[in-house]
Amino acid sequence: AANVFDYNLLTGLHVVVTAGPTREAIDPVRYITNQSSGKMGYAIAEAAAEAGARVTLISGPVNLPTPTRVKRIDVVRAEDMYNASMAVVDEGCDVFIATAAVADYRPSVTAEHKIKKSTEEIHLTLVKNPDIVAAVSAHAKRPFTVGFAAETRDVVAYAQAKLDNKKLDMIATNDVSGENVGFNSDNNALTVIWPGGHKVLPLAAKRQIAKQLIELIAIRHKRD
Ligand code: CTP
Ligand code: CA
Repeated sequence: AANVFDYNLLTGLHVVVTAGPTREAIDPVRYITNQSSGKMGYAIAEAAAEAGARVTLISGPVNLPTPTRVKRIDVVRAEDMYNASMAVVDEGCDVFIATAAVADYRPSVTAEHKIKKSTEEIHLTLVKNPDIVAAVSAHAKRPFTVGFAAETRDVVAYAQAKLDNKKLDMIATNDVSGENVGFNSDNNALTVIWPGGHKVLPLAAKRQIAKQLIELIAIRHKRD
């Protein structure tokens, strides 16, 4: 039941969570990034620890305290988050939950010095970053792999496509077009999809949603 949280659901398991945005430098004082407070990922890391897991939180730049009994690894760029993730998966982990809002592209070059204002128009060339969760699910020591998808339209269809394309065990999706969910909010509502099933977690505090998601992950992980 949603209100009776089993503190031993994930005992003995190593859970890895990515959270927050990544930051891709244009020059020493400028960067491109994604909108992300990190709150959902931090709540999930906290809930996993409360459920008895050993938790590693790989975090982009956010303004949040580290949850109790969670090991936090700070990263800035997507490539750093990729390398940190591969290192923990190489070592071996049981569950990987990708909540991070990873920048899909980075500037092809980072200027060594601050770019000076000049012509009316300048062009920035972007190159694709590695897909971290797809690399995790393709890894030889593949953990139970969970993705997130923040969408503004066709929420479930896009999430289902990501579940299939990235070969995930589960994907949690939220509609971020509304005002009371997602991003900086303390509340969230999720639709959680896995091959052959789904469950709606209605609008609630992110802490509460995190616990419910951890329960679903524990059940599905045990079954696999
Ligand atoms: N993700 C990742 N590495 C990336 C991009 C995304 O690990 N370089 C993960 C996110 O952490 C999330 C999932 O993939 O768990 C879905 O992210 P999303 O941005 O919704 O999907 P994309 O594949 O990047 O597709 P698009 O942005 O075009 O919707
Ligand atoms: Ca993306």
